Amino acid sequence: VTISVSKSGGNATSNLQYGAMEEEINHCGEGGLYAELIRNRAFQGSDKFPSSLDAWTAVGDSSLSLQNLSDPLSAALPTSVRVKGSGSAGLINSGFWGIDVRPQKYSGSFYVKGDYSGSFTASLSSLDGKKLASTKVKSKSVAGEWVQHEFTLNPKSKASSTNNTFSLSFDGSKVKDGYLDFNLISLFPPTWNDRPNGMRRDLMQALKDLDLKFLRFPGGNNLEGDTIEGRWKWNETIGPLKDRPGRATTWQYGETGGFGLIEYMEWCDDLNLEPILAVWAGLALNGDTVPESELDVHVQDALDELEFLTGSVDTKYGALRAKYGHPEPWKIKYVEVGNEDNLNNGLSSYKSYRFAAFYDAISEKYPDIQVLASTIDMTLEGKAGGDYHLYDTPDNFVKKFDFFDNQSSDHPILLGEIAATEFNNGGEGINWDDTNFSLYPWWIGSVSEAVFLLGAERNADKIIGTTYAPFLMNLDSYQWSPTMISFDSNPDNTAKSTSWHVYDLFNKNHMTDTLPATSKDGFGPLYYATGVNSETKSRIFKAAVYNSTEDVPVSLTFSGVGRGTKADLTVLTAPDAFSMNEVGGANIVNSKTTTIKAGKKGEFSFKLPNLSVAVLTTN
Ligand code: AHR
Repeated sequence: VTISVSKSGGNATSNLQYGAMEEEINHCGEGGLYAELIRNRAFQGSDKFPSSLDAWTAVGDSSLSLQNLSDPLSAALPTSVRVKGSGSAGLINSGFWGIDVRPQKYSGSFYVKGDYSGSFTASLSSLDGKKLASTKVKSKSVAGEWVQHEFTLNPKSKASSTNNTFSLSFDGSKVKDGYLDFNLISLFPPTWNDRPNGMRRDLMQALKDLDLKFLRFPGGNNLEGDTIEGRWKWNETIGPLKDRPGRATTWQYGETGGFGLIEYMEWCDDLNLEPILAVWAGLALNGDTVPESELDVHVQDALDELEFLTGSVDTKYGALRAKYGHPEPWKIKYVEVGNEDNLNNGLSSYKSYRFAAFYDAISEKYPDIQVLASTIDMTLEGKAGGDYHLYDTPDNFVKKFDFFDNQSSDHPILLGEIAATEFNNGGEGINWDDTNFSLYPWWIGSVSEAVFLLGAERNADKIIGTTYAPFLMNLDSYQWSPTMISFDSNPDNTAKSTSWHVYDLFNKNHMTDTLPATSKDGFGPLYYATGVNSETKSRIFKAAVYNSTEDVPVSLTFSGVGRGTKADLTVLTAPDAFSMNEVGGANIVNSKTTTIKAGKKGEFSFKLPNLSVAVLTTN
């Protein structure tokens, strides 16, 4: 394939290009990024998932029972646990399918009510009963009042596995009434940037390593809710943890609300990510929509949320944000209205009044915000952008290489959820009834995503940025695979997928401008995008080879780049089409960088093997 790249005439690309999408699914937050180690820490319930003693067992002969007391810890946390016992009594938590114990400081706390004169013992133990760390906490507990206790645990060595538990015990003989009531029992390992109520370090590191540029949150289906009442409510995810009621996610488990709006913004701050905030748009997954006459309250709710994030401390909600520790307003440049409003019978109401109501109100109050519709299946008004999602087979990803070629640049598009999910089997798109989804991204799927991403990069003036979705999966409890990063309770096992490596290569070689390329050979099996980084002046060629019977010879010239110029060529390959990076396993993606020199006519000559992803950058 002979390719000639011009010196100019391309388009400026977005500097967001690659980002992340997060919603509570796959225990990616609860039991994942959100570093809390205690599962079911506050016995929160909902109609869908009633309060339970899930993850809890009693110490020795003591007994546990859920109580809805007349004087609960808070209105948001009405259910607590009563521990009854005359001897050594208490409760044990099995964590999010294990607890990682290593020599580091664990910060814990709990609320307790009842007349008790002894002390509490907080411990981490292995399943076979070995104590890994333990501390005594002098009781301040009194009758008729919830009193918070804090403690730290400092294990001396690393446990041999994560089959460990946390326990909180007391001497039942010193309890006046024969029982104590507990709630909001919490334990955190060291977090990213040492933030209280913060994020798990290894997962943040895996995200930081990708050098992402934006974060789309908080969903996804989980934003929408199963019902209108069950929607994600921003104002129930802020403030002290005891005032966050939690809710039923749309993904078969409850969330505590501990990983809330402020935590999302702190995540953006910590990794320097542009927030792309999704606001609820009047559609729930069961197809219920808010009628036009009742939509105002939800539009106002979105404006309040924006005031909370961006308003000065003189505004009602800006003052609330300051009260919760963030006097400096954040900046929000992108707001997406809803999620996949083209589905669940939502499109006609979205087109006829829902989107316009949010678009008009947000644009009027915040003219600098780029408002995005959650679909491109409609005529977008004004300056609105759209959001396009694609879950499909590798073959269908490759077929969509030219999908954006004829798209107008008037309405920028976010590629807000992208993943090759299903193996090629002759099927067209996702068959939701089959079990064909891969557990992890697999190499041919990742190469096909690369082809699609190249189609987007060629049209990068039209694309705001792209994110794989879902991003994270806890292998011990998940609803959707594959994901960009997979993990379990052991941080040493975290797996960066094959797609992670493709995104990493493309993201780290950012083109500020595309450059037009000509070739008589057409696209396929070699697909590519060409451009320049105006800061480094480096010319860039990004490519993927899909379905080739032999290595593809490439002769590449860049106008103005002469004989002898050096370039780095990085080629990613994998042992075979179905190779995957698995939790606890080794990285199977082979990355090889060689330096090559331009020949007599300034041409770079090299060969790319089938199922490879490559980037060439001139020095
Ligand atoms: O990413 C998983 C789900 O896929 C999202 O919640 C939804 O937006 C899409 O259908």
